[in-house]
Amino acid sequence: MTTGEIVSNTILKDSYYKAEFFVPDICAETQPGQFVHVKIANLRDRILRRPFSISDVSGKGILTVIYKVVGEGTEVLAGLPAGTVCDLMGPLGKPFSLPLQNELPVIVAGGYGSAATYLLAKRSPVKGVLLLGARSEADLILSEKFAAAGFDVRLATQDGSQGHKGLVTELIPPLLKEKAGQKIRFYGCGPTPMLIALAKMLQQNGFGDGEISLDHLMCCGVGACFACVVKIKADNEDGWRYARTCKEGPVFTADDVYTDGE
Ligand SMILES: Cc1cc2nc3c(=O)[nH]c(=O)nc-3n(C[C@H](O)[C@H](O)[C@H](O)COP(=O)(O)OP(=O)(O)OC[C@H]3O[C@@H](n4cnc5c(N)ncnc54)[C@H](O)[C@@H]3O)c2cc1C
Ligand code: FES
Repeated sequence: MTTGEIVSNTILKDSYYKAEFFVPDICAETQPGQFVHVKIANLRDRILRRPFSISDVSGKGILTVIYKVVGEGTEVLAGLPAGTVCDLMGPLGKPFSLPLQNELPVIVAGGYGSAATYLLAKRSPVKGVLLLGARSEADLILSEKFAAAGFDVRLATQDGSQGHKGLVTELIPPLLKEKAGQKIRFYGCGPTPMLIALAKMLQQNGFGDGEISLDHLMCCGVGACFACVVKIKADNEDGWRYARTCKEGPVFTADDVYTDGE
């Protein structure tokens, strides 16, 4: 466990906030796709931590988390001023692997999925494409940061308020036509229905080596309580087994994601 002082904690956009913690030890070890488990100071229920993807780390020991206020924990976090000290565990979880020099990374993200994949984009040796989707424009975050990192950003919203009107996965077939002949490595992070649809698409089109971050409600964060299990494919009678997203994930290959009947 590490104690980390909040350096800044400000609104990013609508209900999304950006918190920066001074935690040099965690920053030094962080790989893209990993998360921190935060004991939020001043929260009534002080025992349960809340998991947040590490969106960025700096050489100066600043770790950035982008979070959406959805309940009590995130609401209390949003009210914490700079100078507050929180307890952070991390970096936790299995990271994304970086694309090879001959692979074009295509990141498919929804909601805070762009925060969870930003460090991957920043560290990627090849700059690729971000397909970013949301219900409406209010939930599209960090597109400018990906563009600044050299990514070609394409947007989709279900209400048509920005970009393509429809689901973000609908941007994939035209992209595959456009990039025919190039070796693509897919990455995904976002709401579960989007990830299941993405995993199915990747499995059916020969992109099973794509990597998908399956976030789930968590408790211990270190593999001890089994609160965070998801079904993944297995070579047994049922065709699946439970895997702990905090320890065996959150990143799984698309081929591992169990999509039958989901
Ligand atoms: C590995 C991992 C990384 C995450 N990274 C981020 C991040 O970068 N930014 C961010 O905003 N959030 C992230 N989350 C989700 C975040 O942990 C939850 O939103 C937070 O714990 C909610 O706490 P709360 O007390 O405010 O809400 P609660 O009162 O605990 O829950 C409020 C609502 O949010 C839902 N919820 C809680 N956790 C999750 C979850 N994991 N997935 C889907 N719905 C959930 C609950 O079911 C409930 O409906 C991540 C979750 C995991 C497991
Ligand atoms: S949260 Fe306890 S095992 Fe994953």
